[in-house]
Parts: sequence; C-alpha cells; structure tokens
Amino acid sequence: MSAGSAWSRFQKIRGLWVEAITDTICAELYAGGIDVITTGNHIWDRREIMAYIAGDPRLLRPVNFPQGTPGNGFGVYALRDGRSVLVVNAMARLFMDALDDPFASVERVLGMHPLGQVSAILVDFHGEASSEKTSMGHFCDGRVSAVLGTHCHVPTADHRVFAGGTAYMTDVGMCGDYDSVIGMQKVAAVARFVRKLPGERLEVSQGEPTICGVLVETDDETGLARAIWPLRLGGKLDPALPQAALPKVAAPAK
Ligand SMILES: [Fe+2]
Repeated sequence: MSAGSAWSRFQKIRGLWVEAITDTICAELYAGGIDVITTGNHIWDRREIMAYIAGDPRLLRPVNFPQGTPGNGFGVYALRDGRSVLVVNAMARLFMDALDDPFASVERVLGMHPLGQVSAILVDFHGEASSEKTSMGHFCDGRVSAVLGTHCHVPTADHRVFAGGTAYMTDVGMCGDYDSVIGMQKVAAVARFVRKLPGERLEVSQGEPTICGVLVETDDETGLARAIWPLRLGGKLDPALPQAALPKVAAPAK
C-alpha cells in the first residue's frame, strides 16, 4: 500500500478513534492494508469488542491480561512468500493497570515461537514508563526483530538497533493531530489541568493529522534487525521519511 492511500484512509477514519476500537474500525483498517492491529489499555472501552475479538485473530489485546480474557495477545501470521511473523502485544505495569508480569508473558510466547521457527518477531509494548519499556527492549535483545513502544502519543528520538540485533524505539508516537493534547482538543484538555474541576467532554482534535511509525529492516538469515527508521508524515511534526528504504514515499501536497 502506498503512503498516499494510507494517508487518505487515515483521514477518513481518524474521527472514530475517540470511540475506541470496534469491528467497523477493524474492517476500515484491514481495507486500508493493515495486516495486524495491536491495542492497549483502551481495548475494552467499547464492550461489544469482547464478543468480536475471539473471532478475529488479527486483532490482538495485551498478552498479560488474566487467563480467560477474550482474544489473543499474540499471533503467527503467514507472509505471501511462505515465511511467518510473530507479533506479540504486551502491556507495561508502571503507572498502568496491574496486569500479569509482561516479561514472563513475553518469555512464554518466545519459548513457543522462537526466532528461527518464525522469520521475524515484533513486540508491541504498550506502556507509560520509558524505563520499563527500555527494559523490555534489552530483555528481548537478540531474540526478537523489534520492540516498539506505544501509548505515550508522542514519538521518541531513541530509535536504534541494540547490540544483540533488536530494533528498539521507546514510543512510535500517535497518528493524529499534534496541535492538541495527546490527540484531544487542547482548550478543554488544558482546562482540566488549570481549573482542577470537571470540565467539558474531551473531543478528538480535528486538525491535520500526522502519521507516525517506524520501518524496520530485518536480516533474512537471522530475523534480527539491520536498521530502523522513524516515519513522520504530515501535520505539525517535522517530517521523517525513510528514504533509503522507501524512495518513492512523498509527503502529501499541502
Ligand atoms: Fe494506551
């Protein structure tokens, strides 16, 4: 899928994010070329997703929810050329809900599907504290292709490949309007801090969004990372385009 089509699809669906993930949003993302959806602490904001998730192996919830929680926290997905990729979704615990130990949960999954049996492994670690997220990166170093942090709504500048060959970034950032407070309209969001009183309902900020993400290049022999590039496209943030790997990607016309 080209960046242009991804951009137009994102423009179309972005207003839906405030309502959390639904089967309709999943269908929109799949139609736009998304292969797997990872989630986090807002996974159950819409109750109907609890019934839906059991029938959609491409929608993941954090693996360290208690036993018996609907859905899956990891999946092995086949590529068109016959290779396979393991995606693991885990949630941190510092300043977050006290779920099961994410390190033990990830260890258990890596024991079932080690690199070599699968061609690449991506760990999405959804959490608040950079210390816990960086620790997960080093914990997995040499055993997975990439550990990528989510949840903070801002992209960090620490993308790198660790000594053991695992690509890492503390947070890949938000896809949304950065002229906001983590995607919410800034006036109401700021007022909540200034007045310390219940204020008006937070609404999604509708300005020009930025798509944030990363591109990771892996070694076909080892499954480990060769390089990681940040991607920032559109909106208020300085652009970052992985030109070396995607020479045809261009920012949309203003
Ligand atoms: Fe989150």
